[in-house]
Amino acid sequence: MFTPVIMAGGSGTRLWPLSRGNFPKQFLPLTGKHTMLQQTVLRLNGLEHAAPLFICNEDHRFIAAEQVRQLGLKKADIMLEPVGRNTAPAIALAAMRARQQNNADTVLLVLAADHVITDTKAFQQATEQALPLAQAGKLVTFGIVPANAETGYGYIKRGEQVGDAYRVQRFVEKPDLPTAEQYLQSGEYYWNSGMFMFRADVYLQQLQQFRPDIYTACEAAMAEQTPDLEFVRVDKAAFAACPADSIDYAVMERTEHAVVLPLDAGWNDVGGFAALWQVSAKDAQDNVLSGDVLALDSHGTYIHSDDKLVAAVGVEDLIVISTKDAVLVAHKDKAQQVKQIVSQLAEAG
Ligand code: GDD
Ligand code: MG
Repeated sequence: MFTPVIMAGGSGTRLWPLSRGNFPKQFLPLTGKHTMLQQTVLRLNGLEHAAPLFICNEDHRFIAAEQVRQLGLKKADIMLEPVGRNTAPAIALAAMRARQQNNADTVLLVLAADHVITDTKAFQQATEQALPLAQAGKLVTFGIVPANAETGYGYIKRGEQVGDAYRVQRFVEKPDLPTAEQYLQSGEYYWNSGMFMFRADVYLQQLQQFRPDIYTACEAAMAEQTPDLEFVRVDKAAFAACPADSIDYAVMERTEHAVVLPLDAGWNDVGGFAALWQVSAKDAQDNVLSGDVLALDSHGTYIHSDDKLVAAVGVEDLIVISTKDAVLVAHKDKAQQVKQIVSQLAEAG
């Protein structure tokens, strides 16, 4: 038995203008009928688990609540962060909630709300293998065999075997390119999938050891909760005072209790338009077209229109996203830079 914790507080800027500040990618049906958040929960069907806990920014509470309602779960909790402080504090709130409910040793399966996993069965088997390790006090990560020297991921060097997993010899979050290339060539590293399984008390103990500042700020935020419909709200001033950091830097790079379980389940974190194109259904010319779109003599494109007709002729590997108030035209190989457009827009106010 475990409690799924669904992290849904990211901003998804690399998929702008599909993904927007007020409606980020985890709430979009990017690869099917259900939204990314809903797929994350549906992927657990058939596993024995407690009510899931969603944790997201308070700005998105009604979107999250509606999408959770559509799932028809018997019970679900939605915790709201008054401000984003990255994943280490978000997971701390979830773990402290378990502790408050006298479930301090409950196992949490921490999932990102915006991943694609094509082989649900392999994913479920991995969670079943991870459970006894987590119960025994390990922090389990799920490792993906790297396909290229991606610098946006955490890298895990495997050590000796522990059951179905390996001891984590080293965890390096987002290395630079030469380092990532070296890791790739060595064949000894996995990518960190960004999904974790551990006991709530084990995570809190490690966080308290390595980042007592984050631990204390989260405890203060949990001390003042305001009941509000089905939401769990924590104290705004206390949480705003919490330093921001990811679980990867705050805990995973430092802990001695981490193990990595290899996962081969068609995992993709849909980190940009190239990845979105890759995981989407394509026509005979390898185009992904949605909305009122016509493409002639074009190949490998991702073209989406919310309203007006968009027509493309003789183009290759182009991303075109047409929405009511913004149009993006980008080359698929450069689409990671969309993030910079969003930063520029934010600076311009
Ligand atoms: N609740 C909450 N609050 N969720 C958050 C917050 C926050 O402040 N910040 C991010 N999230 C959610 C995102 O929505 C996403 O589902 C997940 O947490 C991971 O955050 P990202 O911002 O997408 O992390 P990343 O992609 O840079 O890196 C992580 O994932 C990689 C794999 O996709 C790391 O764990 C890497 O090591 C890993 O390789
Ligand atoms: Mg990510």
